[in-house]
Amino acid sequence: MLDGKKSLFSGMQSTGTLHLGNYLGALKNWVTLEDEYQCFYCVVDMHSITVRQEPAELRRKARALLTLYIAAGLDPEKNCLYYQSHVPAHAELSWILNCYTYMGELNRMTQFKDKASKNEENINAGLFTYPVLMAADILLFQADIVPVGDDQKQHIELTRDVAGRFNSIYGDVFTIPEPYIKKTGARIMSLQEPTKKMSKSDDNANASIYLLDDTDTIIRKFKRAVTDSDNEIRHSKDKPGISNLIEIYGVATGKSIEETEKEFEGKGYGDFKIATGEAVASMLKPIQDRYNELIKDKAYIDSIIKNNGEKASYYANKTLRKVQKKVGFPERIR
Ligand code: TYM
Repeated sequence: MLDGKKSLFSGMQSTGTLHLGNYLGALKNWVTLEDEYQCFYCVVDMHSITVRQEPAELRRKARALLTLYIAAGLDPEKNCLYYQSHVPAHAELSWILNCYTYMGELNRMTQFKDKASKNEENINAGLFTYPVLMAADILLFQADIVPVGDDQKQHIELTRDVAGRFNSIYGDVFTIPEPYIKKTGARIMSLQEPTKKMSKSDDNANASIYLLDDTDTIIRKFKRAVTDSDNEIRHSKDKPGISNLIEIYGVATGKSIEETEKEFEGKGYGDFKIATGEAVASMLKPIQDRYNELIKDKAYIDSIIKNNGEKASYYANKTLRKVQKKVGFPERIR
């Protein structure tokens, strides 16, 4: 709750290029929540450096991501869109929460285990405490809900545990957030290895649909998607490839699994893959057009970065000051 209105926080890393999983699992749902909630959507550039980045590229990607937020339909007048690194309260609260989070809890995080195994040469402390910074992000804004894909659920559970622990010592300081995860689209799988989730760090470009891929590329990637050999368009656990495509087609067109199965009864995988590619391409086309316009408008994007950064700082500092007082830091002398 903030100013008597329910509030919400979510964010994305500015590494790699946004893919269809990021859009269907998160961004597409964000756009529907602006009237009911006070919304904060962050470009989490501080999380991004837990893996080594090229500085100029990271800066460029952060700006591209913030621009994509707007292009996908987030109105910057109604949603606070900003860079994490512009609001020092994230780092400050993260330090405090580090002192209320157990090593054992962080050791259990599957994303840490996964990332550590992929970056054996750089298993840094930031990678380990990554979920604490995430908890700070969420708790600074007293978020009631956190709209994310399925892979972030464990991190939100940790956030709830840490917030509950803090509250039980100091009283009602933090709102305990709920994950907001849609039934469909919350776990989009790789087009090449459909038992693995679609991921920004996948080296195989054919495994992911990127938000800025052109229509031909999108259709080509769907045509090449790995599926089984029985040629029946049916959603089933033992058919991960085709089930993933049915889900993607469903979220892109608003059709249920049953409706999709019915629509393609008696048709082959070839037709279905092309239809899915076309549906996804036409869903993404307006976003791409708007993005290409917006990215040229430097002054407009700059003004959003500045104004929204200040707005986010205002709310974040309110929570931070309360927390600092609770833990016993000396008062500031004015
Ligand atoms: P990130 O940048 O990996 O992903 C951004 C969002 O996309 C969702 N997502 C998916 N959804 C469906 N299918 C997929 N294959 C898929 N891959 C990713 C993610 O669940 C996420 O919602 N740690 C976070 C960023 C973060 C954050 C936060 C999120 C930092 N602080 C506070 C919420 C609240 C991350 O790395 O997301």
